[in-house]
Amino acid sequence: MLTQLLRKKSIQPHAHTGLKKCLTAFDLALLGIGGAIGTGIFVLTGIAAATQAGPAVVLSFIIAAVAAGFAALSYAELAAAIGGSGSAYGYSYVAFGELAAWMMGWMLLLEYGVGAAAVANGWSGYFINTLSNLGWHLPEALTKAPVLGGSINLPAFAIIWALTLLLMVGVKESARANNIMVIIKLSTIVIFLVLAVGHIHSEHWQPFMPFGWFESLDNGKNIGVLAGASLVFFAYFGFDAVSTAAEECQLPQRDLPIGLIASLAFCTLIYIIVSGTLTGVIPYQQLNTASPVAYALTSLGYTWSSTLVATGVLAGLITVLLVLLYGLTRILFAMSRDGLISPVFSAVNPDRQTPSKIILMCGVVVSLVAGFIPLGELAETVNIGTLASFVMVCLGVIRLRQTHPDLPRPFKNPFNPLIPLGGVVTCAALMGFLPASTWHRFGLWAVVGVVFYFAYSFKHSKLRQ
Ligand code: ALA
Repeated sequence: MLTQLLRKKSIQPHAHTGLKKCLTAFDLALLGIGGAIGTGIFVLTGIAAATQAGPAVVLSFIIAAVAAGFAALSYAELAAAIGGSGSAYGYSYVAFGELAAWMMGWMLLLEYGVGAAAVANGWSGYFINTLSNLGWHLPEALTKAPVLGGSINLPAFAIIWALTLLLMVGVKESARANNIMVIIKLSTIVIFLVLAVGHIHSEHWQPFMPFGWFESLDNGKNIGVLAGASLVFFAYFGFDAVSTAAEECQLPQRDLPIGLIASLAFCTLIYIIVSGTLTGVIPYQQLNTASPVAYALTSLGYTWSSTLVATGVLAGLITVLLVLLYGLTRILFAMSRDGLISPVFSAVNPDRQTPSKIILMCGVVVSLVAGFIPLGELAETVNIGTLASFVMVCLGVIRLRQTHPDLPRPFKNPFNPLIPLGGVVTCAALMGFLPASTWHRFGLWAVVGVVFYFAYSFKHSKLRQ
């Protein structure tokens, strides 16, 4: 039955599907690191420390890492056993059937598509600041969305197009550009740590937990270490994009688990060290700025370094964007191949071996969202979508162990079902710590998804036909 289902929907485990198989385990690990380290650590650490967790933001990062870790191990098991460009969408298809798969795909669009537009807005902010530090000022109308009094957020719009074109050129070229920018991003972090570590004063870590574990305030905001964890969780997602590269890596059964687990472990270590250092050098109350890392260095007297760091952050956010856009195109590619969205989008360009039509469509939609909608609070909506998709992946592991115990699993989690169960509980708990307004937007997104499914996908599904 499983094999039949996989064959029908043309996700045969690690089948060749026209995409170029050229990525190594190292490329995959850098893809995961490229997709993960960005706005979360460079921006949200400061906000979470100042308004939700204080110096205990380190604990927020550790708690979020536990949830992401359980999910990563579950991803690794399914990615090695099933593969497929659609990643968690494909696993849900196999484990739970079409409606669940559609909803999973719909959640992933929120994670990758809206996430990319949100990060493009963050990138634009850094870019405009760096330009003005250098004495160049963009006309204000070109720096803001219409509802904020501008005409278009041009840098956000343009960066999406630049990366769309890069993705159309080819996956190996994109991976190479990603690898270079990941190295620049990591160098920025090393520079920060080297300069800042000598200035740590342990009295900045007192009081360690000024906002306690969790409290829901009358103004609708949540505070405490756990609320902080549900916000800084944004720093972790992106590593899961490794699993969307299943059809383009050389030895998926071995390389996917390595890529997923190595990238998450590395990011966790970096986040603990950076957030601990940041709160150790500057009183946490001062960290609520758009660029806490650069701010900390300027406060320590290293004014020259803040432009350097801003440049590194710009490169870092580009890699996040690149990986999110890449993941988005591959998930939609798989959904289109299954007939759940128009089959026009699953055509592969024979020369470049990339799904160019879907890349182009993603470029159009994400650039318009990034250019014309200010995304602010949508970051939290992205988190809830990601957490929901992680819950489904973990449930998928449990279900497939029951329904298909003999499926070859090159990577198998020990102590089943402890690890996926841990993922379900921790990710669901983090969802619970998000504010009510986020839940309302999430509910709306889910309803639109169900309506689309019954209006289009249900009738056009290849599996159903
Ligand atoms: N994890 C990515 C970031 O923090 C999305 O920007």
